[in-house]
Amino acid sequence: MKRILIATQNEGKMDEFNAAFNPLGYSCISLNDVGFKEEIIENGLTFFDNAYIKAKYISDKYNLVTLADDSGLIVEALPNELGVKSKRFSKEATHEANNLLLLEKMKNIVDRTAYFISQLVLYYPGGKFYTYQGRVYGEIGFDLRGNFGFGYDPLFIVDVIYKRMAELTKTEKNQVSHRGNALNKLIEDIKNEVIVI
Ligand code: IMP
Repeated sequence: MKRILIATQNEGKMDEFNAAFNPLGYSCISLNDVGFKEEIIENGLTFFDNAYIKAKYISDKYNLVTLADDSGLIVEALPNELGVKSKRFSKEATHEANNLLLLEKMKNIVDRTAYFISQLVLYYPGGKFYTYQGRVYGEIGFDLRGNFGFGYDPLFIVDVIYKRMAELTKTEKNQVSHRGNALNKLIEDIKNEVIVI
């Protein structure tokens, strides 16, 4: 199997990358797998900036083609509070604390419109890169439901199917999610030999 290095320590994201890439004959290697222990400073203002910072840093360090995802939740009623800062929304910065804080801040809010963005950067040693974006629209629920996924998945109701993201298996999630949408564009380019990994 061919291998792709993914610039993440997030095992939830890794499950989704593997679900997308394994059927194409690629296995995904995480930063945990290569023993990377540093913290990359994600001080960009946009999802693209942060995905580029992560992909370039890891590609430069290991001299390998590297894929990074920077993603987050945008809640219309809480502008500027989440977005690129989604991971560190609560001071504890755990998925549980983030979800409880979001529930609390949204308890009297009627407009619950929200969406996720995923920005992928595939970076090659030497500086060439490709980038893809995916989104999924929905709303924030009034309670936590479902046991799959990670992050805000138990709170996010996916439009159209009206299910929580955390009620979907990783394959089902990839069919609708921001990351799945971005990955589909990348995979199309691999299949069409626009890019080679
Ligand atoms: P990143 O690792 O800097 O890209 O931070 C992403 C953060 O956004 C995660 O820690 C979650 O809080 C949130 N997030 C991104 N994608 C998802 C998802 O697919 N489900 C739930 N939360 C997500």
